[in-house]
Amino acid sequence: MRIPAQFLFAVLGLTTFAATAETPAAPAKHHHAQTPILAATPPMGWNSWNFFKGKVTDQDIRNAADQLVATGMKDAGYVYINIDDTWEGERDANGVLSSNSKFPDMKALADYVHSKGLKLGIYSGPGPLTCARFPASLDHEVQDAKLYASWGIDYLKYDLCSFRQAVMTAKAPDDEAEQMRLMIAAYDKMGKALKDSGRPIVYSLCQYGWDAPWVWAPALGGNLWRTTGDVQPNWHSIYDIISEQAGLAKYAGPGHWNDPDMLEVGNGKMTLVENRAHFTMWAMLAAPLLAGNDLPNMTPEIKAILTNKDVIAIDQDKLGREGTKAYADGESEVWTRRLAGGALAIAVLNVGYDRTSNHPIYLDLARLGLHGPLKGKDLWSGKDVTLTDHMPVELVSHDVMLVRIAAPK
Ligand code: GLA
Repeated sequence: MRIPAQFLFAVLGLTTFAATAETPAAPAKHHHAQTPILAATPPMGWNSWNFFKGKVTDQDIRNAADQLVATGMKDAGYVYINIDDTWEGERDANGVLSSNSKFPDMKALADYVHSKGLKLGIYSGPGPLTCARFPASLDHEVQDAKLYASWGIDYLKYDLCSFRQAVMTAKAPDDEAEQMRLMIAAYDKMGKALKDSGRPIVYSLCQYGWDAPWVWAPALGGNLWRTTGDVQPNWHSIYDIISEQAGLAKYAGPGHWNDPDMLEVGNGKMTLVENRAHFTMWAMLAAPLLAGNDLPNMTPEIKAILTNKDVIAIDQDKLGREGTKAYADGESEVWTRRLAGGALAIAVLNVGYDRTSNHPIYLDLARLGLHGPLKGKDLWSGKDVTLTDHMPVELVSHDVMLVRIAAPK
């Protein structure tokens, strides 16, 4: 499914830009110097899909808004409440879409969410139907973008789904390059429609990382783009996704982010240690932090993970440099992320299935170009820590140590 980006840019007339490790990718061309950048840091909020799937209602969204405030998550930075699939109703004779009976009044819901100091997100796709087979935006892009703006929508997740069969394979059954051109043109169309909607709306591309969206999505106004298939609430899925981010860091920066999918913290059968490692690694990856758990029934331990302000500060660091894996050694991985003001985050992750703390793994500062002793803060214990050159770290299976150090020499 890979076709040369230059070819696509030429066909679509899009601006190209070179992104290197030293030079983060240019911001989307829609941004004017005087307008604040949308998604200057990775978007934070909550999305309905991971917990509610197709059952989500207006009341669930209002409850989520109430809970973001009551739990302190809003104060910690979570601001978007995103309605995922299954809100869509029918189009009238003029093509105007309404919400279905689960969402009786979208404008009133947006007003409610805004009254809490939060923002509202919505979901559609470029095909005739969404993944859950509700109406999507094909041939109604401009109309839908205006409708969202009239409701007061602040964020759109745009999911490929039926576009693949209904347009890509239907129009170009034997021509993958043409299929991808059609896909990119469809995302460009909605990008333009949002830009012309009269309201700043964060644009989230969801097409599972097909044909390297990190290369072309920023130029068509994408603020984030999924890099993989759907996340699942188990360690296997989380670790697969972490591993699939290799080589993508240079494409992320203020206004345009790699999206390794929404958080599963608090979902499924992950242990607390795994939840903590998942959250840590999303922060190291400068990932959008979109919680997807059952907020009214969140345990104090899960709340403590989701609201750890030091870890969130890594994710939201204004330099916007995504972290990378510095080295792997047997069952351990060491990741680093450059932060504003010359600071550095270091994450040591035990990725082994059964290794326990009775034989430590080691953090080798020399392999990071550093030498000890280095004073820092362990962001999960909250304690000061001194890193030494060949430092034993006791981590049970799937646990993580996350340390922030200020401007290492
Ligand atoms: C796709 C997306 C998910 C979710 C569902 C909704 O699978 O990747 O994140 O939005 O569709 O149907």
